[in-house]
Amino acid sequence: MIREQGDASPLVPSRPTLKKLQIAAAGCQACDLWRTGTQTVFGEGKPTSTVMFVGEQPGNQEDLQGKPFVGPAGNLLDKALVEAGIDRSKVYVTNVVKHFKWEPRGKRRIHKKPNAMEINACRPWLEAEINVVKPRVIICLGSTAAQAILGSKFKVSTQRATFVQSPLAPFVTATVHPSSILRAPSDDQRRAEMAKFIADLKKIRKATDSEAAAAMARQR
Ligand code: URA
Ligand code: SF4
Repeated sequence: MIREQGDASPLVPSRPTLKKLQIAAAGCQACDLWRTGTQTVFGEGKPTSTVMFVGEQPGNQEDLQGKPFVGPAGNLLDKALVEAGIDRSKVYVTNVVKHFKWEPRGKRRIHKKPNAMEINACRPWLEAEINVVKPRVIICLGSTAAQAILGSKFKVSTQRATFVQSPLAPFVTATVHPSSILRAPSDDQRRAEMAKFIADLKKIRKATDSEAAAAMARQR
């Protein structure tokens, strides 16, 4: 792969484990986001996880706690996983960009979308996580993650929960970002968006489960 200048690849250890990656990424300064973020928020989950969720970047809570998906979006994701019957202990969660990008709004820090340079700078960390975990299923959350991983043509609005051929994993797909559900303008719309999100996750679970069952039957 052709690398942009100034990406994180020189920092990636040659025989990585998740622990080694996390330690190396803690000192990353490959783009400017380390200057304003509190800390690198690396992915989290067992190396044997079969499902990987990829978000955009850590939020305010994640930045402060140093863990991905521990704030409101993470709580919503956890609820949806239970509803969809996806075992949280087999799930790895991470982000395309590993520092919180924000701008001040009064006393609050408001999320700001990462740009292409920042996404490219941070990509080696995500690629290394995928190489170590080797998930069966990768689920991008929201269009920033989907476009970074599936290409700029992918439209979450029309292609959510459909699978895309990819060298990254046997099953690669995307759905909406849980934050977009939290931003729905009314309770009714929030409930409707949550139901659609759970339906996507169920559909993905069933598609990937039945494939697993078929593969096992073939081995017998
Ligand atoms: N939103 C994300 O995309 N990632 C997180 O870790 C938290 C919120
Ligand atoms: Fe490094 Fe990614 Fe943080 Fe930029 S956002 S400094 S590339 S870890």
